[in-house]
Amino acid sequence: MTDFLLNRQPVTLATTDPDLTVLDYLREQAHLTGTKEGCASGDCGACTIVVGELTDQGLRYRSLNSCITFVHSLHGKQLLTVEHLEQEGALHPVQQALVEHHGSQCGFCTPGFVMSLFALYHSDAPPNREAVLTALSGNLCRCTGYRPIIDAGVALLKDRHGDAFSADLANIEAELRSLETPVLPEETKSDHSVGFWKPTTRRELAKARSQAPGARYTAGSTDLALEKTQRLTDLDALIDLTGVTELNRLTVDVKGLHIGAAVSYTDLEPALLADYPEAREWLERLGSRPIRNRGTLGGNLGNASPIGDTPPLLIALGASVTLSNGHTERSVPVSELITGYRQTVLAEDEWIDTIHIPRRKPGSQLRAYKISKRFEDDISTVCAVFYLETDHNDKVTCLRASFGGLAATPLVLSDWQKQLTGQHWPSVAVNELSQTLADNLAPIDDVRASARYRVQVTANLFKRFHLETTQPDIRSRVHIHGGLDHA
Ligand code: FES
Ligand code: FES
Repeated sequence: MTDFLLNRQPVTLATTDPDLTVLDYLREQAHLTGTKEGCASGDCGACTIVVGELTDQGLRYRSLNSCITFVHSLHGKQLLTVEHLEQEGALHPVQQALVEHHGSQCGFCTPGFVMSLFALYHSDAPPNREAVLTALSGNLCRCTGYRPIIDAGVALLKDRHGDAFSADLANIEAELRSLETPVLPEETKSDHSVGFWKPTTRRELAKARSQAPGARYTAGSTDLALEKTQRLTDLDALIDLTGVTELNRLTVDVKGLHIGAAVSYTDLEPALLADYPEAREWLERLGSRPIRNRGTLGGNLGNASPIGDTPPLLIALGASVTLSNGHTERSVPVSELITGYRQTVLAEDEWIDTIHIPRRKPGSQLRAYKISKRFEDDISTVCAVFYLETDHNDKVTCLRASFGGLAATPLVLSDWQKQLTGQHWPSVAVNELSQTLADNLAPIDDVRASARYRVQVTANLFKRFHLETTQPDIRSRVHIHGGLDHA
């Protein structure tokens, strides 16, 4: 049972396939075809929708890719599509701005751009180009060109006077509260006929796991849904983790960050960047804004994909995970979690519960580099993360490096790292060390890059790390918009 508001209309979907996507629901059941299908893999933004959710701070609107979002995730929320933006017969300010700046030609991508800009309009983002670029990071346009669309977004932010949604905010919030309880009641939350479980506590999660040993876990579904949309696999048994209270907690203490496995990247962003501001570029390139609104650290680790971007960072930071089965827990360093291609040490009855990132040492240095063809929303050809601690004499006390995109599992070269310990960092033999690094690599050779390219670029990234941490005044990037520097 899924209860949600379709704009202002309460909808109850009595029985749905657990892997029914919001896009398929909109186009085939609700007959709302303004939302388009382009890639069906979260890459183009044609299917962008906005979902409103009650939080402690009130109603929050976020953009999502409907093609890779399962419909059951709408429970207790408000679903908005381009059809719902009309303002008593007039265009919404977002649509008006696109018209005035000539931001649409063929129009196929336009509903997606409209919805991304609508979410931005309802955010507290500053009125600048940077905010627009971030909001549109998941939207591709093939005929208009981006300049007029970005201009429309900037003009829109500078003239934010609210809309029919903000004017009626209190009523929308009341309508959301009056839906069936935001979390499914216990008696009905397990609908075995459709193979869907939505536990709300660890105890219930353990029960669901025992009832459905073969079911797949899902949270943001940004990767799992591709099995449905790209490989046409039926996902007939799912356990949704997003309702589990403990898995949605994010706490910070003297030891570091403790991140529930179902916390989205967007919600993680402020806390992570407060302690590790150098991770900003990595985070912004990990996926577009709609992807980061849904994707989770727990999902990225659990998938154990060879091109996952989070394991290299977490390994370099010395992070660990708590694995739980609801009765017992164990702690595993992230460096030991992934054992092979999409394989982990997780036992059949376990789940990733919490990710722990330790506090950084004063004076430590971090760089997280991502090499990919598209800037914001692409698979890494190489992801290289370096974390360095030195003593007061600039001697290396700890260097941890990890590399993604090179092999079936994130790569750690312990012996190579160890040889740096005790060396004077500013004067280490960088060329020799990068050559030794290259000599230890035997990367994959695929459509994204040749093995030779991967070796060269990985070795060069180590040189860049040394350059940036010893001669910070030397410019090592090509500067692009706002705070981002292109790798
Ligand atoms: Fe391309 Fe959904 S259809 S992101
Ligand atoms: Fe044609 Fe964007 S207006 S693809």
